[in-house]
Amino acid sequence: MNIEWSNSVTSAAAAGDVLCMMISENRLTDSSLAPEWRAAIEPLTKAGLFSGKLNQIYILPVTAISRYSIVILAGSGKGDPGIGEIRVLAAHIVRAAMRLKAALLDIEIPEQALSREGAAQALAEGLKLGSERRKHYKQEQASYVRPDKVALYPQQLADDTLDRAWRQGIQRGTVFGDSANLARELTNLPGNLLTPSGLAAAAVEVAERHGLPAEVLDEREIEQKGMGGLLAVGKGSIHPPRMIVIRYQGTGDWTDVTGIIGKGITFDTGGISLKRAPGMEDMISDMGGAAAVLGVMEALGRLRPRINVVMVIPAAENMPSAAAFKPGDIITTLSGKTVEVLNTDAEGRVVLGDGLTYAREWGAERFIDVATLTGAVMSILGDVATGAVTNDKQLMQDLLAASDRSGEPVWQLPVYPEFREMLRSEVADIRNAAGRFGSASTAGLFIGEFAEGLPWVHLDIAGTAFLSKERGVHSKGATGVMVRTLLEYLLSLSRDQLPGPLARE
Ligand code: BES
Ligand code: ZN
Ligand code: MN
Repeated sequence: MNIEWSNSVTSAAAAGDVLCMMISENRLTDSSLAPEWRAAIEPLTKAGLFSGKLNQIYILPVTAISRYSIVILAGSGKGDPGIGEIRVLAAHIVRAAMRLKAALLDIEIPEQALSREGAAQALAEGLKLGSERRKHYKQEQASYVRPDKVALYPQQLADDTLDRAWRQGIQRGTVFGDSANLARELTNLPGNLLTPSGLAAAAVEVAERHGLPAEVLDEREIEQKGMGGLLAVGKGSIHPPRMIVIRYQGTGDWTDVTGIIGKGITFDTGGISLKRAPGMEDMISDMGGAAAVLGVMEALGRLRPRINVVMVIPAAENMPSAAAFKPGDIITTLSGKTVEVLNTDAEGRVVLGDGLTYAREWGAERFIDVATLTGAVMSILGDVATGAVTNDKQLMQDLLAASDRSGEPVWQLPVYPEFREMLRSEVADIRNAAGRFGSASTAGLFIGEFAEGLPWVHLDIAGTAFLSKERGVHSKGATGVMVRTLLEYLLSLSRDQLPGPLARE
């Protein structure tokens, strides 16, 4: 699905094409609507069928007044819709177009939206995110059709500055949306179709597409290097673990490197500390963090900003078997720190510890880890917000600002010294589980031990990575959450990347 900017007021619409008009509640009463459209819409309003209420969709057949055979009326609410509202509205619009099996969709951009900063990006993101569906494996074909092309038309011609801003915004939104969709697609793959080596192959594919250097360590190299955490978690499975690295270098020197580390558990049974059966199928999404950081690399490969990023994915399948690690085991991680295993279901933090240490070896000076880490974060934030744990106020603030722009809510969790105490072990440097109390924070703090004092933020996406029903821009299943937030953050590190009205602050 191509999204194009068409800075002209006449479209090349042919019969069969679909037009979408965004109509606010005010526009129904003020004079900005052409008389023929007003005449067509007024009876609907009178009949209570369309009022312009936010996200209201009404399908209007209009062969008489335009070349379009169908018009989607999309309510944009009272006054000026915000960026977040525009993004979600775009998702509703493209879903309506898909129900209509539209091959071509024209969207008229109303005057107020045209000059709103970030509107172009938000629209493109919403269109991309809203049109993605989980792949199915039924013998029967899918019943929906995605438009081949979506063209955005301004209600009145945009001047040069706006024209450039819309082109850039659409490009950026397209890449952000595509990259989140890539993360969703990988996350939705079941455990039998995506093993650690399969995840590595997917990463290599992204790296090769953009000419980025990649490295994949197999189980023998993982052992030789002393990555005892990843090795322990992965050794219970017949699908051996992988350590996956992709490097993106956007400046002359390899300095000021951000490490992004994603939890890549391709299926989490809990291991010997086995999970209960109901809902275990959702653990196909336990590599949602890995998918997110890989999605980020896809976008960096396309956008080429002047920043340096190393992506690390410790990938493993957590299985119970004769070879599996066990409660009571004491393992030595890549950092040299020893871990007492109390619960093999607390496996994410164990692999991520090695992930952070390895990212440091690759030159990372700050870390952001993304992980479906704890059930506990869902008790706190539900499936709405991602939980954050940090050791650095500034990095946290920057990420919260990025989350404001992306519309992916992030909420910071507390880190009391008492929580750190709870991870103390009598026989090792640290233990991997600390009981139920405060466990979203303690789980994060375990990972933070491997940051060795460098700035670090942990993002727990256990609640937000995989939804049980469609919501906003998200379809049911994987969300690709944090791809866009990380990108907003990372691109803000290279302010000179986006000139003109798109540069922020
Ligand atoms: N992958 C799970 C966390 C999870 C739960 C993600 C539900 C998505 C939905 C993680 O590995 C896990 O099992 N965490 C345990 C930790 C506990 C054993 C200390 C948990 O949260 O119950
Ligand atoms: Zn897990
Ligand atoms: Mn687990």
